[in-house]
Amino acid sequence: MRFNSKIKTIQWIDNYSRIIDQTIIPYEFKYLDITSGDEMVNAIKTMIVRGAPAIGIAGAHAIVLYAQELEKTYTDLNEFAQELIKKADYVNEARPTAVNLMWAVKKQKEVINNGVNNNLSIHELINNLKENGIKLENEDVEINKKIGDYGAEIVPKGATILTHCNAGALATVGYGTALGVVRSAYANDNTIQVFADETRPRQQGARLTTFELVTDGIPVTLITDGMCSYFMKQGKIDLVITGADRIAANGDSANKIGTYTVAIAAKYHNVPFYIAAPLSTIDTSIKTGDEIVIEERSHEEVTHINGKNICIDGVNIINPGFDVTPHELIAGIITEKGILRPDYKTSIAEAFA
Ligand code: MRU
Repeated sequence: MRFNSKIKTIQWIDNYSRIIDQTIIPYEFKYLDITSGDEMVNAIKTMIVRGAPAIGIAGAHAIVLYAQELEKTYTDLNEFAQELIKKADYVNEARPTAVNLMWAVKKQKEVINNGVNNNLSIHELINNLKENGIKLENEDVEINKKIGDYGAEIVPKGATILTHCNAGALATVGYGTALGVVRSAYANDNTIQVFADETRPRQQGARLTTFELVTDGIPVTLITDGMCSYFMKQGKIDLVITGADRIAANGDSANKIGTYTVAIAAKYHNVPFYIAAPLSTIDTSIKTGDEIVIEERSHEEVTHINGKNICIDGVNIINPGFDVTPHELIAGIITEKGILRPDYKTSIAEAFA
């Protein structure tokens, strides 16, 4: 099986979840069938599945997998539900920054609580969890297509779009958010092109974004993270579009480390900087980006390239996985309900009304 943007990155099949292993792209393209809750939590932690919307669905599937396991031990609905809620809390903590994980876990918890309140059988409750997981999965693709179509309206003819990290089909169930905009824009105008930041340290731009776009036949040029201002100064970038992992009620947006630097460079060079994200990425419970927990990842991601240590022993390392772009640097947030504009406190509140 080869990648194309119509393939689902994550899909529920009968009683297991099928995911694309993102750690081996572009060398190999392979599915993994995940049959236990622990396996799925591990896949989220080790970034076999990654990207905010994709890990949300992975979290929803993990809860179904745990439910199937607990069904073998528990016959009492209340005891079953209590244990499952503990597992859901564990899933919730697999990664801290992308709020889509917490959002999807909350949706599955609602199904568990409804099941208890309606005194369903354990079997019926598990079926409802499965159905909800599949519903969230299918909705994700529909939402991304809407984001793509709204976003395509702000892409000028023949534009060069810079993106950071991977916010494509691989970061979602399918189609992508930032790359969803690229796909929709390209369908209208095949003279547009993409510049993709390599995205150190995990190189999602180099490994995944270029993989998706080259496979789709959309022109893409790979640059290293420090090069964006060089090309902006030359007038080579018309707009920036990235995804997001969590957006606060005032529009401050967390995304892959390095996004903030791109947004500052864009402001300086008068290049509009957009975020493309579903409403499930917006965390209206937090007022500003200061409240977003930034994941600290392993030092080896920085010291090692392709398994080889590139540094002298003894050097200090720090590796935050995300940064927060302040709302005043963001020209618009492209969602399935249209493009939200400043003042974000108002436009976000209206989108949720
Ligand atoms: O650490 P990752 O690879 O999960 O981080 C992903 C990103 O930062 C993406 O840009 C973001 O989740 C948007 S995905 C549509």
